[in-house]
Amino acid sequence: MNDNDIVQVPSVLEAIHQDTRRAGFTMASELQTGALLRTLAATKPGGHFLELGTGTGVGTAWLLSGIDAQSRLESVENDPTVLEIARRHLGHDPRVTFHLMDGAAFLAESQFRFDLIYADTWPGKFTHLDLALSLLRIGGIYLVDDLLPQPSWPDGHAPKVPSLITELESRMGFVSTKLAWASGLMVLVKTNGK
Ligand SMILES: C[S@@+](CC[C@H](N)C(=O)[O-])C[C@H]1O[C@@H](n2cnc3c(N)ncnc32)[C@H](O)[C@@H]1O
Repeated sequence: MNDNDIVQVPSVLEAIHQDTRRAGFTMASELQTGALLRTLAATKPGGHFLELGTGTGVGTAWLLSGIDAQSRLESVENDPTVLEIARRHLGHDPRVTFHLMDGAAFLAESQFRFDLIYADTWPGKFTHLDLALSLLRIGGIYLVDDLLPQPSWPDGHAPKVPSLITELESRMGFVSTKLAWASGLMVLVKTNGK
Protein backbone atom coordinates (compact mmCIF):
# COMPACT_ATOMS: atom_id res chain seq x y z
CA MET A 1 0.00 0.00 0.00
CA ASN A 2 1.24 3.47 -0.88
CA ASP A 3 -0.54 5.92 1.40
CA ASN A 4 0.86 8.85 -0.57
CA ASP A 5 -1.16 7.78 -3.56
CA ILE A 6 -4.25 9.94 -3.01
CA VAL A 7 -7.09 9.27 -5.44
CA GLN A 8 -10.15 11.29 -6.45
CA VAL A 9 -8.54 14.61 -5.61
CA PRO A 10 -11.20 17.36 -5.97
CA SER A 11 -10.79 18.89 -9.44
CA VAL A 12 -10.89 22.47 -8.08
CA LEU A 13 -7.70 21.86 -6.10
CA GLU A 14 -5.39 22.26 -9.08
CA ALA A 15 -6.52 25.85 -9.65
CA ILE A 16 -6.45 26.61 -5.91
CA HIS A 17 -2.92 25.23 -5.63
CA GLN A 18 -1.82 27.39 -8.56
CA ASP A 19 -3.17 30.54 -6.92
CA THR A 20 -1.76 29.42 -3.57
CA ARG A 21 1.75 29.17 -5.04
CA ARG A 22 1.30 32.49 -6.84
CA ALA A 23 0.32 34.14 -3.55
CA GLY A 24 3.37 32.64 -1.83
CA PHE A 25 1.15 30.95 0.75
CA THR A 26 3.04 27.99 2.25
CA MET A 27 0.66 26.76 4.95
CA ALA A 28 -1.91 24.91 2.83
CA SER A 29 -3.03 21.48 4.01
CA GLU A 30 -1.32 18.41 2.61
CA LEU A 31 -3.05 15.96 0.29
CA GLN A 32 -3.12 13.22 2.91
CA THR A 33 -4.69 15.54 5.47
CA GLY A 34 -7.27 16.59 2.91
CA ALA A 35 -8.14 13.00 2.06
CA LEU A 36 -8.64 12.17 5.74
CA LEU A 37 -10.71 15.33 6.24
CA ARG A 38 -12.98 14.32 3.37
CA THR A 39 -13.38 10.80 4.77
CA LEU A 40 -14.23 12.06 8.24
CA ALA A 41 -16.60 14.68 6.84
CA ALA A 42 -18.53 12.00 4.96
CA THR A 43 -19.40 10.31 8.28
CA LYS A 44 -21.71 13.21 9.20
CA PRO A 45 -24.59 13.50 6.72
CA GLY A 46 -26.54 16.69 7.25
CA GLY A 47 -23.73 17.88 9.50
CA HIS A 48 -22.47 21.27 10.54
CA PHE A 49 -18.74 21.75 10.00
CA LEU A 50 -16.20 24.36 11.09
CA GLU A 51 -12.79 25.13 9.65
CA LEU A 52 -10.67 27.56 11.67
CA GLY A 53 -8.10 29.09 9.31
CA THR A 54 -9.36 28.95 5.72
CA GLY A 55 -6.09 29.94 4.10
CA THR A 56 -6.60 29.73 0.34
CA GLY A 57 -9.32 27.08 0.63
CA VAL A 58 -7.46 23.80 0.30
CA GLY A 59 -9.00 22.18 3.38
CA THR A 60 -12.31 23.80 2.52
CA ALA A 61 -12.30 22.11 -0.89
CA TRP A 62 -11.59 18.72 0.68
CA LEU A 63 -14.34 19.20 3.27
CA LEU A 64 -16.82 20.24 0.60
CA SER A 65 -15.96 17.13 -1.37
CA GLY A 66 -16.91 14.94 1.62
CA ILE A 67 -20.07 16.56 2.91
CA ASP A 68 -23.54 16.03 1.48
CA ALA A 69 -25.98 18.57 0.05
CA GLN A 70 -27.70 19.17 3.41
CA SER A 71 -24.50 19.86 5.31
CA ARG A 72 -23.15 23.32 6.12
CA LEU A 73 -19.57 24.50 6.50
CA GLU A 74 -18.38 27.65 8.26
CA SER A 75 -14.81 28.62 7.41
CA VAL A 76 -13.03 31.42 9.30
CA GLU A 77 -9.99 33.44 8.21
CA ASN A 78 -8.58 36.80 9.27
CA ASP A 79 -6.44 37.49 6.17
CA PRO A 80 -8.53 38.96 3.34
CA THR A 81 -5.87 38.26 0.69
CA VAL A 82 -5.85 34.49 1.08
CA LEU A 83 -9.55 34.34 1.81
CA GLU A 84 -10.22 36.01 -1.54
CA ILE A 85 -8.62 33.01 -3.28
CA ALA A 86 -10.87 30.59 -1.39
CA ARG A 87 -13.94 32.70 -2.15
CA ARG A 88 -13.07 32.93 -5.84
CA HIS A 89 -12.86 29.16 -6.24
CA LEU A 90 -15.44 27.95 -3.74
CA GLY A 91 -17.74 30.88 -2.94
CA HIS A 92 -20.36 29.71 -5.44
CA ASP A 93 -21.06 26.64 -3.28
CA PRO A 94 -24.12 27.40 -1.11
CA ARG A 95 -22.99 24.93 1.56
CA VAL A 96 -20.04 27.07 2.65
CA THR A 97 -20.05 30.42 4.44
CA PHE A 98 -16.75 32.27 4.66
CA HIS A 99 -16.19 34.52 7.67
CA LEU A 100 -13.53 37.22 7.45
CA MET A 101 -12.84 37.60 11.15
CA ASP A 102 -10.69 36.51 14.04
CA GLY A 103 -11.14 32.84 14.90
CA ALA A 104 -11.38 33.57 18.63
CA ALA A 105 -14.18 36.07 18.05
CA PHE A 106 -16.02 33.56 15.87
CA LEU A 107 -15.78 30.91 18.59
CA ALA A 108 -16.93 33.33 21.27
CA GLU A 109 -19.94 34.47 19.24
CA SER A 110 -20.94 31.12 17.74
CA GLN A 111 -24.46 29.95 18.38
CA PHE A 112 -23.76 26.74 16.45
CA ARG A 113 -22.77 23.25 17.58
CA PHE A 114 -20.52 21.34 15.21
CA ASP A 115 -20.13 17.76 14.02
CA LEU A 116 -16.54 18.32 12.94
CA ILE A 117 -14.01 21.06 13.67
CA TYR A 118 -10.82 21.32 11.63
CA ALA A 119 -8.73 23.57 13.89
CA ASP A 120 -6.05 24.82 11.52
CA THR A 121 -4.98 28.08 13.16
CA TRP A 122 -4.06 29.44 16.62
CA PRO A 123 -7.52 30.03 18.10
CA GLY A 124 -9.25 26.72 18.72
CA LYS A 125 -5.89 24.96 18.97
CA PHE A 126 -3.17 26.80 20.92
CA THR A 127 -5.63 29.28 22.41
CA HIS A 128 -9.38 29.03 23.07
CA LEU A 129 -9.16 25.22 23.04
CA ASP A 130 -11.82 24.75 25.74
CA LEU A 131 -14.19 27.00 23.86
CA ALA A 132 -13.69 25.15 20.57
CA LEU A 133 -14.16 21.73 22.15
CA SER A 134 -17.28 22.96 23.95
CA LEU A 135 -18.87 23.66 20.55
CA LEU A 136 -18.60 20.02 19.45
CA ARG A 137 -21.62 17.75 19.56
CA ILE A 138 -21.34 14.33 21.20
CA GLY A 139 -19.76 12.12 18.54
CA GLY A 140 -18.25 15.24 16.99
CA ILE A 141 -14.76 15.08 15.54
CA TYR A 142 -11.90 17.50 16.25
CA LEU A 143 -8.91 17.35 13.90
CA VAL A 144 -5.59 19.19 14.19
CA ASP A 145 -2.52 18.96 11.99
CA ASP A 146 1.05 20.34 11.95
CA LEU A 147 2.02 18.38 15.07
CA LEU A 148 5.29 17.24 13.48
CA PRO A 149 7.98 19.94 13.05
CA GLN A 150 7.09 22.30 10.19
CA PRO A 151 9.30 24.87 8.41
CA SER A 152 6.52 27.44 8.90
CA TRP A 153 6.71 27.23 12.71
CA PRO A 154 7.72 30.57 14.22
CA ASP A 155 10.60 30.78 16.70
CA GLY A 156 9.57 29.51 20.10
CA HIS A 157 6.63 27.48 18.81
CA ALA A 158 8.15 23.98 19.01
CA PRO A 159 7.80 23.56 22.83
CA LYS A 160 4.08 24.37 22.65
CA VAL A 161 3.30 21.32 20.53
CA PRO A 162 4.06 18.54 23.06
CA SER A 163 1.99 20.48 25.62
CA LEU A 164 -0.94 20.61 23.23
CA ILE A 165 -0.68 16.88 22.51
CA THR A 166 -0.59 16.06 26.24
CA GLU A 167 -3.50 18.40 26.85
CA LEU A 168 -5.55 16.77 24.09
CA GLU A 169 -4.87 13.18 25.02
CA SER A 170 -5.57 13.69 28.71
CA ARG A 171 -8.86 15.48 28.13
CA MET A 172 -11.90 13.93 29.84
CA GLY A 173 -14.88 13.22 27.64
CA PHE A 174 -12.84 12.61 24.50
CA VAL A 175 -11.09 9.69 22.84
CA SER A 176 -8.08 10.44 20.68
CA THR A 177 -5.61 9.01 18.20
CA LYS A 178 -2.23 10.44 17.20
CA LEU A 179 -1.06 9.93 13.64
CA ALA A 180 2.59 10.57 12.78
CA TRP A 181 1.41 10.93 9.19
CA ALA A 182 1.21 13.86 6.82
CA SER A 183 2.15 16.94 8.89
CA GLY A 184 1.33 15.07 12.14
CA LEU A 185 -2.33 14.74 12.96
CA MET A 186 -4.49 14.18 15.99
CA VAL A 187 -8.13 13.14 15.85
CA LEU A 188 -10.43 13.43 18.86
CA VAL A 189 -14.05 12.40 19.21
CA LYS A 190 -16.29 13.81 21.91
CA THR A 191 -17.94 11.10 23.99
CA ASN A 192 -20.60 11.11 26.65
CA GLY A 193 -17.99 10.09 29.23
CA LYS A 194 -16.41 12.40 31.77
C1 LIG B 1 -2.41 26.63 8.40
S1 LIG B 1 -3.19 27.96 7.60
C2 LIG B 1 -4.74 27.32 7.11
C3 LIG B 1 -4.65 26.36 5.97
C4 LIG B 1 -5.97 25.88 5.41
N1 LIG B 1 -6.86 25.39 6.46
C5 LIG B 1 -5.76 24.78 4.40
O1 LIG B 1 -6.38 23.73 4.52
O2 LIG B 1 -4.98 24.99 3.46
C6 LIG B 1 -3.65 29.00 8.94
C7 LIG B 1 -4.47 30.19 8.53
O3 LIG B 1 -4.96 30.82 9.71
C8 LIG B 1 -5.03 32.21 9.48
N2 LIG B 1 -5.08 32.87 10.80
C9 LIG B 1 -4.04 33.22 11.61
N3 LIG B 1 -4.48 33.73 12.76
C10 LIG B 1 -5.84 33.72 12.67
C11 LIG B 1 -6.87 34.14 13.55
N4 LIG B 1 -6.59 34.65 14.75
N5 LIG B 1 -8.16 34.00 13.15
C12 LIG B 1 -8.45 33.49 11.92
N6 LIG B 1 -7.51 33.05 11.05
C13 LIG B 1 -6.22 33.18 11.43
C14 LIG B 1 -3.80 32.52 8.65
O4 LIG B 1 -3.96 33.72 7.94
C15 LIG B 1 -3.73 31.27 7.78
O5 LIG B 1 -4.35 31.50 6.54
